[in-house]
Amino acid sequence: MSAMNDRFLRACRREPVDRTPIWMMRQAGRYMAEYRALRAKHSMLEMCKTPELACEVTLQPVAHGVDAAILFADILLPLEPMGAPFEFAKGEGPVVHQPVTDRAGVERLRVFEAEEGLGYVMQAIRLVRKELAGKVPLIGFAGAPFTLASYLIEGGKSTHYLKTKRLMYGDPAAWNLLMEKLAEVTRRYLRAQVAAGAQAVQLFDSWIGQLSPEDYAEFVSPHVAHILRDLEATGVPVIHFGTGTATLLGLQKQAGGTVIGVDWRISLTDAAKLVPGVALQGNLDPLLLFAPLDVLKKRAAKVVDEGKKLPGHVFNLGHGILPETPIDSVKALVDFVHEYSAR
Ligand code: CP3
Repeated sequence: MSAMNDRFLRACRREPVDRTPIWMMRQAGRYMAEYRALRAKHSMLEMCKTPELACEVTLQPVAHGVDAAILFADILLPLEPMGAPFEFAKGEGPVVHQPVTDRAGVERLRVFEAEEGLGYVMQAIRLVRKELAGKVPLIGFAGAPFTLASYLIEGGKSTHYLKTKRLMYGDPAAWNLLMEKLAEVTRRYLRAQVAAGAQAVQLFDSWIGQLSPEDYAEFVSPHVAHILRDLEATGVPVIHFGTGTATLLGLQKQAGGTVIGVDWRISLTDAAKLVPGVALQGNLDPLLLFAPLDVLKKRAAKVVDEGKKLPGHVFNLGHGILPETPIDSVKALVDFVHEYSAR
């Protein structure tokens, strides 16, 4: 058996690497014909809940030469065992059937044991590890309390986070109870993923860029810290990711994580000034995958160059790949990052 490609784990740990490692958020998804073919036969939730299908989809993008696999699942899966079922409605994204509106709704939510409520995810992790046979490491993940709360309260995607912030400002005690429940569910879930074989984990706090630094520090950060401090004790790399976070990076680092995810709204060099000494992940604008190849490569080279000056750098997009992305650009990007960073 060939040795594991461990440059992703090495970069997370700030150890020297032969090339810059690359993987992409949402690397398994609709931009791939193999994914669309499976998806034509199964719903998104069916695919998540069937370990064999989740495993198959997880492995699909590994063929592009990325340096890590990320488990195929969704950040919203814990909502169902908490007592808030949802579906992915065609064209609208996620829809939570009975959104949480008040304290009574928060009190009804269950804090469950991960192996009981989400055993199918851990089964998928064990299967993927077996199938990968050490080819590349497997990343597990979960949504962070603020981002999950926004779906629970709004009932789906949101532009202004009106209901979310109304609860946060209007009933801070109910808000804190909600965040405590979500944080404990997430802590247990990520622990279970690591126990099942996840070799790194990423916490997605995708929508925290909606918050001022003051509100992040007061209403969110203690709950994120509850998760991340505990996960850091497992010894696996813990990636702390958000978008629109140029004003929040320092607070995010304080809350925890051994790698900080950065989007394209701030350069890696400027981000490193805010969170010195830590490994960074990012930060190419996913829309550059729609640019001519020479433009894509020029901008990717800049990210690689800036990353090389950091203590550790994992190349990624600043946010997930869009479904319309040309697959040839994805493959070209992976090859380019490997070739260019080896020079
Ligand atoms: O990165 C990966 O490849 C792992 C799988 C993964 C998915 N969702 C699969 C998915 C991960 C890590 C996520 C995270 C996720 N899910 C986030 C945070 C990450 C981010 O992008 O900021 C959020 C906010 C969600 C909630 C969610 N799930 C939304 C808003 C949607 C989009 C709905 C749509 O139609 O665009 C989903 C569905 C979803 N999750 C898809 C995939 C591949 C598309 C499902 C399909 O095939 O229809």
